Amino acid sequence: MVTDERQRPLRRPRWRRAALLAAGLALPASCRDHRPPSPPPASRRQPAVPSATVPAAPSPTARSFYADHFSRQATVPELTALGRALFFSPQLSVSGQMSCATCHDPAFAYGPPDGRATQLGGPGMDTPGLRAVPSLRYLQNVPPFEQHHFDEAVEDSTDQGPTGGHAWDGRANTTHDQARLPLTSSFEMANPSVEAVVTRLEKGPLAARFRAVFGDDVFAERARAVTALLKCLEVFQQSPQNFYPYSSRYDAYLRGQGTLTPAEQRGLALFNAPKKGNCASCHPSQRRKGAFPHFTDFGFNALGVPRNGALPANDDPAYFDLGLCGPVRTDLTGHGEYCGFFRVPGLRNTAARHVYFHNGLFHTLEQVMNFYVARDTSPAKFYPKAHGRVDAFDDLPPQHRKNVNHEPPFGGRPGAPPALTQAEIRDVIAFLGTLTDADVKRR
Ligand code: HEC
Ligand code: HEC
Repeated sequence: MVTDERQRPLRRPRWRRAALLAAGLALPASCRDHRPPSPPPASRRQPAVPSATVPAAPSPTARSFYADHFSRQATVPELTALGRALFFSPQLSVSGQMSCATCHDPAFAYGPPDGRATQLGGPGMDTPGLRAVPSLRYLQNVPPFEQHHFDEAVEDSTDQGPTGGHAWDGRANTTHDQARLPLTSSFEMANPSVEAVVTRLEKGPLAARFRAVFGDDVFAERARAVTALLKCLEVFQQSPQNFYPYSSRYDAYLRGQGTLTPAEQRGLALFNAPKKGNCASCHPSQRRKGAFPHFTDFGFNALGVPRNGALPANDDPAYFDLGLCGPVRTDLTGHGEYCGFFRVPGLRNTAARHVYFHNGLFHTLEQVMNFYVARDTSPAKFYPKAHGRVDAFDDLPPQHRKNVNHEPPFGGRPGAPPALTQAEIRDVIAFLGTLTDADVKRR
């Protein structure tokens, strides 16, 4: 049975209660009840960081956000409906052409609509972004970011390192904090401020609905109107039928209502096996206390993904997207031990993606799998040559290359056989295909 916790490939410490509570606080009380229990993070292997040198993680701003009072008490269905209208409204962008759904396409599990490594945005819809668009499904349990994740349920729990937060670098603690980012990013919706968005909304077709939901005075104070906007977007993104339907074939299998083909079964076993795919050590696949897996432990790792020459930002040889340590995220600059670390993405609906990894380098699961199993055994397949030698981990400055993970399926000397054969890779990909929700397009 896949649900047997003893079959776990690695010690899997339990979810930290404090983090869970904080995550609960980050939701409106009315929504909290809809959430299935959180899955636990897996143990990860990253360098321990002496806590004395590290400032405390930023505390979640959730409390003050939800303390705002409106003259009318909106219901969850009302917030969800208005949030949906806003999510699909190009009025949110300065260009008047871009909605959240332009990049987060519901047909592809709210992931990228096409094979561009990064999407275009900005006032003229021609400014390229820096990172691949993540899927917005199954984010309802992302805990707030913390630099030192200890598991209270495990005695002498070791520091599991940075965990949680939204975006590839975990820099936003909640989905409402996250929504501010695209609204004001120069290469996305390009508004000078979130206040400027509500000024436009007040004059637009959705104004009447805002007043009906929050009261006639909703636009009287800019700050309150901003809260109303972000709250609607957040509540919509927490609606189960849209964002966590658990309607994949693997969910049916976990419920005992469906079967996997022999190839999918073999793929699942390889995905879990510590010496083969070892995928589940970072992308947990099993049920935990009844909670269905999201295929991420919310941790951060450096995989040494090759530099993507298709990203205009990379035209500058001095530019490196180092994830946790910057430059997009700014509060952990100087933490060399975090450079190259990106948050482990969930793998639900991954077969529906057009692009993979933070820089959108790969376009198929075959490419992703070949990178995982042959990065270290055949580095010349993935990295360019510099001064006659393969420049492995070329998207990291040399001093940060030691941060790269070498556990299976990585590892193995150049020329050694890869962790998985081509037939085994096909099986893992067959298994990954079972994680696609019923309403999501197949590519
Ligand atoms: C131009 C394309 C684009 C638009 C428009 C856009 N996003 Fe995003 N979104 C992204 C990218 C790229 C990321 C990853 C950013 C990063 O890691 O720095 C992201 C990340 C996110 C995340 C975090 C996901 C995670 O894995 O934690 C959320 C939530 C989100 N966007 C919601 C929204 C909402 C709500 C809107 C509309 C207000 C929106 N986005 C508009 C491209 C876009
Ligand atoms: C050491 C932890 C770790 C292991 C082991 C691991 N992954 Fe990942 N995975 C990550 C991280 C971190 C990323 C994001 C890296 C980045 O973008 O720089 C990622 C990204 C991915 C992506 C791209 C998803 C997206 O939305 O872009 C896929 C697919 C994936 N992993 C599948 C697998 C499979 C299959 C295995 C086993 C063969 C595996 N992973 C093993 C940590 C891990």
